[in-house]
Amino acid sequence: MSANLFTPIQLGAYTLPNRIVMAPLTRCRADANNAPHAINVEYYRQRASAGLIISEGSQITPSAVGYLGTPGIYSKAQIAGWQQVTDAVHDADGRIFLQLWHCGRVSHPSMLPAARLPVAPSSIRAEGHAHTMEGVQAFVTPHALTTSEINNIITDFATAAQNALDAGFDGVEIHGANGYLIDQFIRDGSNQRTDEYGGSLANRARFLLAITQAVVAVCGADRVGVRLSPINPFNDMRDSNPQAIFDHIASALSPFNLAYLHVTEWAGHDTSAPQPNFDFAQLRAAYQGTYMTNGGYTLNTANTAIGTGAADLIAFGTLYIANPDLVERFAHNTPLNPADGNTFYGGNEVGYTDYPFMTPV
Ligand code: PHB
Repeated sequence: MSANLFTPIQLGAYTLPNRIVMAPLTRCRADANNAPHAINVEYYRQRASAGLIISEGSQITPSAVGYLGTPGIYSKAQIAGWQQVTDAVHDADGRIFLQLWHCGRVSHPSMLPAARLPVAPSSIRAEGHAHTMEGVQAFVTPHALTTSEINNIITDFATAAQNALDAGFDGVEIHGANGYLIDQFIRDGSNQRTDEYGGSLANRARFLLAITQAVVAVCGADRVGVRLSPINPFNDMRDSNPQAIFDHIASALSPFNLAYLHVTEWAGHDTSAPQPNFDFAQLRAAYQGTYMTNGGYTLNTANTAIGTGAADLIAFGTLYIANPDLVERFAHNTPLNPADGNTFYGGNEVGYTDYPFMTPV
């Protein structure tokens, strides 16, 4: 019989009881110090039957933030808060990776130390708005990073990875997706550098690969994943030839023997926009290793993707917001709770830890 969502799998250092992954989900409910606290512990604890939980993106330094209420992984209070989360998940026999996040130009001086400019590969402003304490404000033109500043950020990723291990995480996922700093280096709509970090495919992949190397040195490759989003235009992203750059990256990541490559097929919040042409099977073929996909999968389409070998694991985002017991619901093929988009970002336990578990069958 071919594999399905309930076929155990070896993922790097871990044997997962199923291939149902909780996708990283920004929920903006950390405390005033950007530290996880009691409601976050409860939220992750509820979802611990996932084969793997990938935490919401967590800023690696105060300069990496892009939203209010997102957790960090740089202060003692944040590490202590995350330790409560990882303890709760482990007590429930789960596994959890932390997602390492730098927002780059998708930020605003009002939320950055000393009201500095956000940073990016090039000083190209993203169309769109930051949600600040003073309300919605247009993105600003970012500061183009110097080489020494780039080196510092690579080190910051490694330090944050060590902090994640110190907080009890089983591993980390490097957020290379969705228009944030690493993705800004990857795609040529936001990277117009003329040094070794811009231009050719190899140059645009360089920042991600350097971060991957630094993080692998801290965690071991079998505790590191990387996330990419080849077709997501969110945060004003574009590329002149996505297939070329993402196939290149998939093949360049292969020799690391990472725990996994995580590719979201998500094409942005605007579902009316035309679907760009992209051959995900070709990208998957360019990657030698464990492959996780994501983006609107259902029980049936996920089982088909695994059964045909199109992917090894499937990450579920929206379904996990609304269904803490997604694994049990899939196992019994019972109806799913609908998700309430009004409570995705910020607020309290409403729409966060109060989605009902299914009635026992
Ligand atoms: C979002 O806030 O919509 C968001 C945040 C991080 C992501 C993707 C989307 O990686």
